[in-house]
Amino acid sequence: MEGRILVVDDEEVVIKSCERILQPAGYDVKGVTSGEEAISVLKNGGFDLVITDLKMPGVDGMELIRWLRSHNPHAAIVVITGYPSQESIKEALQLGIVDYLPKPFSPELLLDVTEKAINTVKARKIEEKPLEEQDVENKIEEIMNAIRRHKNKPGALIPVLQSVQEILGYLPPTVQRIIAKELNLPVSEVHAVVSFYSFFSMKPKGKHNIRVCLGTACYVKRANEILAKLKELLRIEEGGITEDRRFSLETVRCLGACGLAPVVMVDHNTHGAVDPVKVGEIIKHYE
Ligand code: FES
Repeated sequence: MEGRILVVDDEEVVIKSCERILQPAGYDVKGVTSGEEAISVLKNGGFDLVITDLKMPGVDGMELIRWLRSHNPHAAIVVITGYPSQESIKEALQLGIVDYLPKPFSPELLLDVTEKAINTVKARKIEEKPLEEQDVENKIEEIMNAIRRHKNKPGALIPVLQSVQEILGYLPPTVQRIIAKELNLPVSEVHAVVSFYSFFSMKPKGKHNIRVCLGTACYVKRANEILAKLKELLRIEEGGITEDRRFSLETVRCLGACGLAPVVMVDHNTHGAVDPVKVGEIIKHYE
């Protein structure tokens, strides 16, 4: 069976036994002995399954699971624990762990749970089309109508891009390819125009778009802390969009309101003198 697995446990003996059992079954297994190490390895992605202990010094298993859910939601998670408390297992289940292994576990149980978890990841990968493809599929008729409306007019590209962006909210590569084909233009030309004009966007926007100013005046007043707090609260990275599509998060160089630094804009509303600790209060008002 194929799959890349990261085992996180402060007891090396647990890592060794996972390797001994899982590697002969065809899995690619890596072990680390702390949550901190796990996060630095997982930042590069590429793991299908994370098997983690819950109780570890420093970043513990629960913290690691929360981090994984916001940064790598596709990886399956299995918890290994000696003394599972009702509370921690309940929270871990709410965060979507596939299963848990009580210590000590038999080789059969480990193999069984691992196979189940890897199959879950494979099923998710098949089910999930990229967001942009789903968006384009859902609106394909409107998009094609917009293209047809402008197609035979001179200089059709910009009006087509504007209309399609109005329909979709952004212009992902999938739709750029459709436009290029319909207008008989090279994809590179469509892409160049989309990249050149700042009013075209290649990334989806949430219902509310948050822009954090990282210009000098804002930066010296802890704008980077505001950004970090928003990333943590929304569980997205810069340029990302929340799963419910309520918020998207961007950074900008200057919003022209340096006297109010540090500044955050939500949609067309300017929020000045933002306190990094209280930035959550601001976004609470946007439903
Ligand atoms: S530097 Fe932030 S508004 Fe100008």
